[in-house]
Amino acid sequence: MRSKTKHPCRENNMNEKTILQFERIFPGIWRARVCANTDTGGMGTSLTAFYKHEPRTEKLDSLPEAGFPFDGAPGGEAFCQSDGDAGTVICLPLRLSERLYGLGLNYQRLCVNYAARQLRCDHYGGQDNGRTHIPAPFYVSDRGYAVLIDTPEPVSFYMGSSVRRDAVNPPPEIHRFREKGWSAVTPAEYVEASFAAGGCDVYVFAASKDSKSPMRDAAARYNLWSGGGFIPPKWGLGMWQRVSGYADGEDVRAEAAAFEEHDMPLSVIGLEPGWQTAAYPSSLDWDEKHFPDHKSLMAELASKGIRLNLWENFFISEKSTLYDPVSPYCGSHKVWNGIVPDLGSPEAVEILSRHHKKLAAEGVSGFKVDECDGFDGWLWPDHASFPSGLRGITMRAIYGAVLQRMQDDAFRSLGRRTYGLVRASNAGAAHLPYVIYNDCYSFPQFLTGTASAAFCGALWVPEVRDASTPREWARRFALSALSPILMLNAWASGAKPWKFPEIEDTIRSILRFRQSIAPALYNAFRGWYEEGIPPFRPLCMDWAGGASEKGGELDDTENPYSLGELLDVTDEYLIGRDLLAAPVAPDSDTRRIILPPGEWYDFFTMERVENSFTREFALDEIPLYVRGGAVVPTLGEDGALVLRCCGREGEGIIYDDDGESFGYERGEYSLIKVIFADGRADYTVESHGYEPGYGDLRFVFSRD
Ligand code: GAL
Repeated sequence: MRSKTKHPCRENNMNEKTILQFERIFPGIWRARVCANTDTGGMGTSLTAFYKHEPRTEKLDSLPEAGFPFDGAPGGEAFCQSDGDAGTVICLPLRLSERLYGLGLNYQRLCVNYAARQLRCDHYGGQDNGRTHIPAPFYVSDRGYAVLIDTPEPVSFYMGSSVRRDAVNPPPEIHRFREKGWSAVTPAEYVEASFAAGGCDVYVFAASKDSKSPMRDAAARYNLWSGGGFIPPKWGLGMWQRVSGYADGEDVRAEAAAFEEHDMPLSVIGLEPGWQTAAYPSSLDWDEKHFPDHKSLMAELASKGIRLNLWENFFISEKSTLYDPVSPYCGSHKVWNGIVPDLGSPEAVEILSRHHKKLAAEGVSGFKVDECDGFDGWLWPDHASFPSGLRGITMRAIYGAVLQRMQDDAFRSLGRRTYGLVRASNAGAAHLPYVIYNDCYSFPQFLTGTASAAFCGALWVPEVRDASTPREWARRFALSALSPILMLNAWASGAKPWKFPEIEDTIRSILRFRQSIAPALYNAFRGWYEEGIPPFRPLCMDWAGGASEKGGELDDTENPYSLGELLDVTDEYLIGRDLLAAPVAPDSDTRRIILPPGEWYDFFTMERVENSFTREFALDEIPLYVRGGAVVPTLGEDGALVLRCCGREGEGIIYDDDGESFGYERGEYSLIKVIFADGRADYTVESHGYEPGYGDLRFVFSRD
């Protein structure tokens, strides 16, 4: 039963505005507690508390202080308001010139100014309308700050789209038919966020004043506060092949052998629902009939460097060994005929955790956590009840993230890193080693998702499933090769990478290219762990609001292209500090490339390129560019570490660790520090309880 705690806002006649009282909790991070005692189903008022790791305190404390972004805002201070039945409203000041990003995982546009969105956990239905795999109540401003409304309630956001009657600077009234300048949009001086019941914590994250990439740095503080990011195991950066749902143990052996025959690298085989004794609902138990020797199968695969990943959903079948133990801790409704564990109940989480620890100890490397994202008939209804007191609607907001946390903890207890797939997550989950995927298959949306996931501290995977032409096949592989996981998900198609014999060589070279850039990707993840910088992110995250804008105005006089255009780019993205990817569309041989201010080099030819150009790309050409002054670590075919030095001079730090354990969190890693000028490089190696695992070192220099 939910207790009836008094709503302090109402006590204070909260139709009145109550100024939010922010306290500094870390340099550049503030929190205001709103109606903190209000009950939201017995679990408190924080969404992230359900699954968040501890903030990276040491890191955060070492960051420079930052100015509070709402000081001196023209419209006044941040405030909250409650008008009884309408719930709680949080109003956050907004300047007219600001550009806002975020509000969950989006696939079409990046900027969310003037959007009105009701954020709900859902599979993506083809529109950026708030129903999203990551309904994170979080946004970032190009003024260099970010805001999180930390509540498990679904939040509605009005991103400067609703003008209040008491506005200090209301937009002018303009006669639509007689005057110039009328617009259907009337910009407001607040972002307003509302939710039905209870309190929340409002967090503000700011970049330091001299930041050149204020959006990125504000988002980085949010990620560090979330306890993230993470560094995946090295095997996770190889090729993943998900086999058909009908596959049995022998098919899996045959699949591994076929990759060898075709001389294609393979790192992970993913089993789809068919590995279990029951599917839809699931048993999460091995089907001994079709996988009679799953332990030796996994050992055989491991001896070839191949890991096994298992598909799951958490609607538990009566046939499952989990059914009896977990049954007392399940909700009021079934999904696909299975009972639904109450993830607000420590007992249910413990039962699931023990089961996963067993699967992991037998050799499983990770899981694909499916179908935790539906908002419709494929999930329980909003009004479903759970023994812990959580309501169905809250359960939906936390389900994917709590499952990730449960599994990550199980692997942690074995001292092994995992890397998995999931269809739902939420704010503050940057520490959880998972990537989001779904059932859509639009190439441009997959591409934009790869970049935009950074605005919720998450990763998105543009998987390959099928293609109708060789060109489409190659282009999709190229995009996937430049993403957090290179994966062919053949659960329905049964396709293999060599599906089109005429381009088998091309696909092989893309897979090998992926192997060769693994050290660069690994270093991008290190930046996420150490500094909170999203490893895959849109161009605007680094360039909006920074040094290349003058006085808040976009400056397009110094560059041969418009920076304004650069900020809206949705089909290119940054990888780590120094790489920029611009995948080519499946129906095209040419594309336009826009590169940010400064020097850029072609990754392959090492030649300097213009900042804006259009050209043709052969199927095995992957548009990838390197920032001038950078050192990019790659793996040579002979196992040597090839350091690609771009520009006349520069420097770089190459990180390495054992790639499997949590030694890196205890400070066990190595750094190679490189400095180069005029075609010569010097380096030093620093080992912190770990010797660099690469073979010889080789330098390659750009040609200017
Ligand atoms: C879908 C999932 C697919 C595949 C399928 C198996 O929900 O998105 O990738 O795993 O289930 O039934």
